[in-house]
Amino acid sequence: MVELTLPKNSQIRKGRRYKARKGAKRVRTFRVYRYDPESGENPRWDTYDVDLSTCGPMVLDALIAIKNDMDSTLTFRRSCREGVCGSCAMNISGRNTLACTKGMDELPAGPITIAPLPHQPVLKDLVPDLNNFMAQYAAIQPYLQTVTPEPDAEWRQSPEERAKLDGLYECILCACCSTSCPSYWWNSDRYFGPAALLQAYRWIADSRDENQGERLDALEDPFKLYRCHTIMNCAQVCPKGLNPAKAIAEIKKAMVERKL
Ligand code: SF4
Ligand code: SF4
Ligand code: FES
Repeated sequence: MVELTLPKNSQIRKGRRYKARKGAKRVRTFRVYRYDPESGENPRWDTYDVDLSTCGPMVLDALIAIKNDMDSTLTFRRSCREGVCGSCAMNISGRNTLACTKGMDELPAGPITIAPLPHQPVLKDLVPDLNNFMAQYAAIQPYLQTVTPEPDAEWRQSPEERAKLDGLYECILCACCSTSCPSYWWNSDRYFGPAALLQAYRWIADSRDENQGERLDALEDPFKLYRCHTIMNCAQVCPKGLNPAKAIAEIKKAMVERKL
């Protein structure tokens, strides 16, 4: 039998424990992934006993309380605090989601484990390097492309044409889907992944865009599009309730239809 072992520098150590203040009555434990590539040290799990009476109900509230009151070295991204910017995406109790919209009471009882989005290089603690993810988004050319001159007034769509963008335009590029996709884990250098492909379809489906043919040509590649194997993790985790797998299937359908 093949025996696989992690390289020594990727083994996660046990870290420090930070206790709640004396007298705290409502305490919840958080195990948080810590890593600083510049330190030369292995990653570790630090444990924080958070006094819930000092913070709001969301996982992000607990992280902010940890940073403010227990350990200012903890690093994570956040901005809007209402599920709009996508920056607080992380892996919470084994599932990619947004820390600002995930209520602590929605999670199973017991300690809450928080790690960065999986299978991306880690810049520090809970902050993944999303440069490749964003470059793939740029590669699908996410803006209207037209050949005919723009009209003087607004570019009108019928209600039916506009409805085709529902389930697509709401994407906040949080990367929860792509980083939960096994195909993306193994081929993220060449497979565009569910988020970029959902965005690609958002423009292919837009009645005002006149470059659908070129957009499909650009995706006609064994890796960029066809590494999706309909595993459906993407649709399971999307915090906005979108279905990237369906968008990918629509692109594949458009590829077939234009050849008929
Ligand atoms: S359906 Fe496709 S994109 Fe979504 S998780 Fe599965 S392989 Fe990845
Ligand atoms: S499709 Fe959903 S999970 Fe994927 S990037 Fe967009 S909002 Fe995030
Ligand atoms: S902070 Fe903006 S989505 Fe969570």
